[in-house]
Amino acid sequence: MEKTQKKGIVKFFNGKEIPLEMHKVRIVQALKLVPVERRLKAIEEAGYNSFLLGTIDIFLDMLTDSGTNAMSDEQVSKMFVADDAYAGSQSFVKFQKSVSDVFGKNLLLPVHQGRAAENIISQTFVRKGSVIPMNYHFTTTLAHIQLNGGKVVELYTPEAMKIKSTHPFKGNIDIEKLDELIIKTGPQNIPFIRMEASTNLIGGQPFSMRNMKDVRKVADKHGLIVVLDASLIGENAYFIRKREAEYEDRSIGFILNEMCSLSDIVYFSGRKVSSSRGGGICTNNKDLYNKMKDLVPLYEGFLTYGGISIREIEAMTVGLYETLLEDVVGQSPSFINYTVKELDKLGLPVIMPGGALGCHVDAKQFLSHIPQSEYPAGALVAAFYIISGIRGMERGTMSSIRDENGVDILADLELMRLAFPRRVFTLSQVEYLIDRLNWLYHNRQLVGGIRFVEEPPVLRFFTGRLEPIGQWPQKLVAKFKADFGDSL
Ligand code: F0G
Repeated sequence: MEKTQKKGIVKFFNGKEIPLEMHKVRIVQALKLVPVERRLKAIEEAGYNSFLLGTIDIFLDMLTDSGTNAMSDEQVSKMFVADDAYAGSQSFVKFQKSVSDVFGKNLLLPVHQGRAAENIISQTFVRKGSVIPMNYHFTTTLAHIQLNGGKVVELYTPEAMKIKSTHPFKGNIDIEKLDELIIKTGPQNIPFIRMEASTNLIGGQPFSMRNMKDVRKVADKHGLIVVLDASLIGENAYFIRKREAEYEDRSIGFILNEMCSLSDIVYFSGRKVSSSRGGGICTNNKDLYNKMKDLVPLYEGFLTYGGISIREIEAMTVGLYETLLEDVVGQSPSFINYTVKELDKLGLPVIMPGGALGCHVDAKQFLSHIPQSEYPAGALVAAFYIISGIRGMERGTMSSIRDENGVDILADLELMRLAFPRRVFTLSQVEYLIDRLNWLYHNRQLVGGIRFVEEPPVLRFFTGRLEPIGQWPQKLVAKFKADFGDSL
């Protein structure tokens, strides 16, 4: 029998198990590691917000996997045969076929990226007073639901909030709580149940197929529809194959199809799932399709391009077929798994087990001397950038919102996310990350908090500006120079 169970990971003669890339790198982009003094200046200029750094000052860009996964030669070559047309493009016909083949949904609405799908779904289904149960929110999902007067209720299991766990499916929704909530709220006030694959904000953690089947049962019992955010569905399918015994001999394609067949509407960010740029909403239900369709020409573009460049539609089509390949959807999780295990061995607090998307460092433990009101995860991202040139993303209270009295709603988890876009980084770069993070851990007492000086009212983490509380960045740089001398 073909050995597929541990594909992509090989055992070395010295006993170490290492993720082995099943691709070669043929197009490269030069990187620079600017000196630590420049990095300090750069983060000051960026208002201590990693979103506002320029890539000229960045060594490893681990902000996100959105639109930054490496494309395959097949994807790039197809971009040259794009059928550019405002309406009726044959590239869109190919896109439709790929969505039907991969997700099993025949009606497709193209949108320019994932949050555009959230806008259309929320405007169509969410009303004032609506309640939307989900395994966990994503930032843009929450913002769109709230903008339309709805409320999000997260029904995660207690395991989801444990930093170090062995639970294979921390992204599961609590089925009992879901049933109770629907009974209490009344199904008429619930426009849909939302499930997010490889739940982003709790560390890229998957849900199981068993859980998804149970969601379907509850939805059917109450006559509700299920919306699946499939932005990271490939990785979730990879974890189902690896961690759910019933599926170990099933192909990724089979698993993807089954996950989607349990959902009424599937939407996705092509920036993530298909290593391209674009997105879509798909369904087999004509009524649901008709309810949403008129908003596409209004917000996105005509129904056969939806604001996406036709070249990207060609790349997305190929990228969707490539999510059927275990080497593709398993690449980032296997690197993440390697990284979190190495960091854990060194005693650093990271989310375990490793999930999709990135390595998530627990700032509450890492910087336990910084209160949540001083954004420990944001401070950690800034400090780590200063000492390494690596750009991560804050996923904690800075990415949260304030309540009606202007008080910060403290995030459940304070995370620094170091994203692993597919096929972008090498293992030597990962070793550099581990080394510098370990140094920072040994010098963590030098890091202090940060506070907002400019705070936008919506999605503040994108463009807000902050400042350090005290002179800690200068002290950190001085210690770095004392330890590393001339090394960058
Ligand atoms: N849903 C999930 C689960 C996501 O992770 C994202 C984006 C979106 C929706 C929105 O998609 O960016 O194409 O508009 N996540 C990116 C990230 C931004 O960095 O995690 P988009």
